[in-house]
Amino acid sequence: MDTKIISAKSDKDLLPAVKVLQQGGLVAMPTETVYGLAANALDASAVNKIFKAKGRPADNPLIIHIGDINQLYPLVKEVSPLAEKLIDKFWPGPLTLIFDASPIVPKVVSAGLSTVAIRFPNHPIAQKLINNSGLVLAAPSANTSGKPSPTTARRVLEDLDGKIEIIVDGGQVEVGLESTVVDVTGDAPLILRPGKITKEMLEDITGKVDLDPALKELDNINYTPRAPGMKYSHYAPNAHVYIVEGSVENVARTIENLTLKAQSNKQKVGIMATDQTINNYTKGDMIVSLGSDQDLESIAYSLFETLRQFDDNNIDIVYTESFSNQGIGNAIMNRLTKAASYNIINAGP
Ligand code: TXA
Ligand code: MG
Repeated sequence: MDTKIISAKSDKDLLPAVKVLQQGGLVAMPTETVYGLAANALDASAVNKIFKAKGRPADNPLIIHIGDINQLYPLVKEVSPLAEKLIDKFWPGPLTLIFDASPIVPKVVSAGLSTVAIRFPNHPIAQKLINNSGLVLAAPSANTSGKPSPTTARRVLEDLDGKIEIIVDGGQVEVGLESTVVDVTGDAPLILRPGKITKEMLEDITGKVDLDPALKELDNINYTPRAPGMKYSHYAPNAHVYIVEGSVENVARTIENLTLKAQSNKQKVGIMATDQTINNYTKGDMIVSLGSDQDLESIAYSLFETLRQFDDNNIDIVYTESFSNQGIGNAIMNRLTKAASYNIINAGP
């Protein structure tokens, strides 16, 4: 299959993509979080193609994307007052809500669960693809399963060239990390995957908010995550990633020492730091600042792209500083710990 990249300056440009979706094919589209790989959510054979193109395990359910609030009601059993409050405040936006699924949701979308994940993305191209096709779209992140999610059309092509019909190029996304996933089937919202919409932001609207216990302790293997996707090794570049924690000085010294040791074994080393600390490093083969530690959104925005750049440069080992766990930092550290397969080195306080 020939994968075409199209730009979307006007509605007319989107016509080929709309057609592919209506005929049961696959289209990668920009959303405000990351690029998604979309297909008609109510067409089981179209949805199956998503799993195949990504190499995604069949027990990992997909998010259904809507472009109009009225598309929600037929997909779910009930919209509780709790869900209403979050919808009023955060949709369209980077928040996915889990509802009890109505019978029209194909089993392949929900991976056999009785629930379904729904998101109303706040991106004009995603909204137009949904509304101009008249469909609701199942769309996971548009990466090969296990890789960091793509934040540009070029990164989608890298993973899915020849496997999907069209990539709609909408430039770089805004957030850079996937949506917050929140289960609203219980009495209080339950966060299954942290994202840009933080626990504090949810609490402002609904009061008490719970965290999936599997998220509380980063390496607690006694809990199976409630979002099946969170149990897989994920977001990982080819390089081995190590998070080094501790005081700024000890982290810098430890990373410099580890770098020298790895380089003496002929390994290429990448280092991830911040604008404030990047000058502490001189030895790495590739030394990158993710952004300012005063602006965690900038760090979130560049994390996945930077992990992919290490692969572009055949880096064998990445040593990264750890980042604040506050606000969106919670999502950054969630993704980073998974990219590092829970390899955390304590450099001392
Ligand atoms: O920002 C996003 O959410 C992006 C863009 C494209 O919208 N999509 C995305 O999809 O990240 P995906 O498939 O890569 O991640 C969806 C996550 C997975 O961890 C999956 O297990 C979880 O949501 N999920 C989906 N349906 C669920 C359900 N019914 N119950 C619990 N978790 C669910
Ligand atoms: Mg994903």
